[in-house]
Amino acid sequence: MSLVAIGACYVDTILSTSHYPGEDEKLRASNIVHRRGGNCPNSLEVLQQLTFGSKTNLALNLISVLPARSSVASQQIVSALEPRVHLDHCIFREAYQEPASCYIIKSQSTGSRTIVNYNELPDMTTEEFIRVTDKLGPQATWFHFEGRTPEVLLGCIRYLRNSFRQARISVEIEKPGREGLQELAEAADVVFYSKTWAQSMGYTSAEDCLRKQSLKTRNSSLLCCTWGQDGAAAFETRTTQFVHAEVDTAPDFQVIDPIGAGDTFNAGMLYALNCKDQEWDLSTKVGFANRIAGMKVAQEGFSGLN
Ligand code: FRU
Repeated sequence: MSLVAIGACYVDTILSTSHYPGEDEKLRASNIVHRRGGNCPNSLEVLQQLTFGSKTNLALNLISVLPARSSVASQQIVSALEPRVHLDHCIFREAYQEPASCYIIKSQSTGSRTIVNYNELPDMTTEEFIRVTDKLGPQATWFHFEGRTPEVLLGCIRYLRNSFRQARISVEIEKPGREGLQELAEAADVVFYSKTWAQSMGYTSAEDCLRKQSLKTRNSSLLCCTWGQDGAAAFETRTTQFVHAEVDTAPDFQVIDPIGAGDTFNAGMLYALNCKDQEWDLSTKVGFANRIAGMKVAQEGFSGLN
């Protein structure tokens, strides 16, 4: 069994500040962290811990566009994820040296994380995806997409439905205002919605989002939505079962690092669906994913989450 995650890989520069700066303000950060980021790579970093030593042998692959193979950034990214995550199918753009970068201001007073990103790497095309995926072979059983460029990804999903008929497909619908995400959600088996996207569509809670989205995504079997302090929820379309998991935090809980909380939830669900599908019911799966997302928020980075 093999899971393939397809999405951008960033290099994050994270500044911790006492508050979010006003325009033209001069502010001294209390800390700076540089680390590999990106939704799919973050989820894979968590998944590699969850699957370590698991009975189900789930191989992990990343398909990402990276700068030149010899660039410092690509070498750092590869060495941070290998050998547990396979990067043989990444697309290296030899004419570029700069990785996609995110500059993140993490405000201690509100727990917010404001992200500015820069990316000069041309996005993956459907043809490139087909070329690298053809080499994967039939062991690829799950494809998870970050919902970036819907028109490209719809082509990828069409190809997978023909050439990898047994494989299941999930997509993450995260960024508000991107056209085509609704169609993308409709094409997947499992959909992960973010609170930001749901709010941009006028939904007032995870339940509101899932119940109304389920009317538009009749082919998808499972819809999930995270809602920050209000936990996470899932809706199974076949049975109409709805489950909600509360955030269960210790009294001394503090938001240390919310960057990638949603990616961690997705990793938890992907683990549950791939490795514990028969053993755990839906409520156990969502409770598990929600718990590790909570653990992640209370600590810096993604290590030690298993
Ligand atoms: C967190 C994250 C960061 C990255 C940014 C990209 O979810 O993946 O690691 O810089 O989002 O949007």
